[in-house]
Amino acid sequence: MTCQGVPYQTRHVRFVDQLSLVAAQSAVATSRRFRRPALCKWQAAFVEDDVLLVASELVTNAITGAGAGILAEPPTWRELERLDLVHVRLVGLRDSVVVEVWDVSDEPPRLQRVGDDAEGGRGLVLVQELAARWGSYRAPGGKAVWAQLAVRPPLPRRPKGERPGGRPTTGPDAALLRRIRAGVDTAL
Ligand SMILES: Nc1ncnc2c1ncn2[C@@H]1O[C@H](COP(=O)(O)OP(=O)(O)O)[C@@H](O)[C@H]1O
Ligand SMILES: [Mg+2]
Repeated sequence: MTCQGVPYQTRHVRFVDQLSLVAAQSAVATSRRFRRPALCKWQAAFVEDDVLLVASELVTNAITGAGAGILAEPPTWRELERLDLVHVRLVGLRDSVVVEVWDVSDEPPRLQRVGDDAEGGRGLVLVQELAARWGSYRAPGGKAVWAQLAVRPPLPRRPKGERPGGRPTTGPDAALLRRIRAGVDTAL
């Protein structure tokens, strides 16, 4: 099922884990490595395979959508200068885990009908299979694509006094990140 808009209410959030990565091919493996400990901490390791698969597909699409992907070996300065960020967030709710991935493109994802011998176009089909719902929404400087996976038994309650691990916001401020990058370049 596809839906528009943010898929949860902040007050229902039990855990949040967020990571910002350079929009290059390496982001897929890096995102996998950092997601695992979060799922263990939330006692949700049993959905790890599905969550990591969905996250990998969404991150792969995000880096392609950001116009990045495979860099020359070694990468050129021009390529490095143009790299954007993608942001990956896992949100633990009572009965589900939401994977949200932001990129700088405002093109929405499009589920494709693919034939048996087609080489691409299966990522979102897979996401649709594994997720109870998925969708996208416009965010400052781009958009977020999200998928919500059911979790059974429910995730534990967050221990009293512990923050969820990063309050969900409307998304990263890409313009601010660009200004910081420009400032760093000037200082070098
Ligand atoms: N984050 C995204 N930004 C822009 N377009 C996207 C994004 N994710 C998916 N799409 C669009 O949806 C299509 C289908 O995605 P997918 O099923 O993963 O297949 P593939 O990535 O192999 O083309 C993509 O070809 C692209 O046009
Ligand atoms: Mg894809």
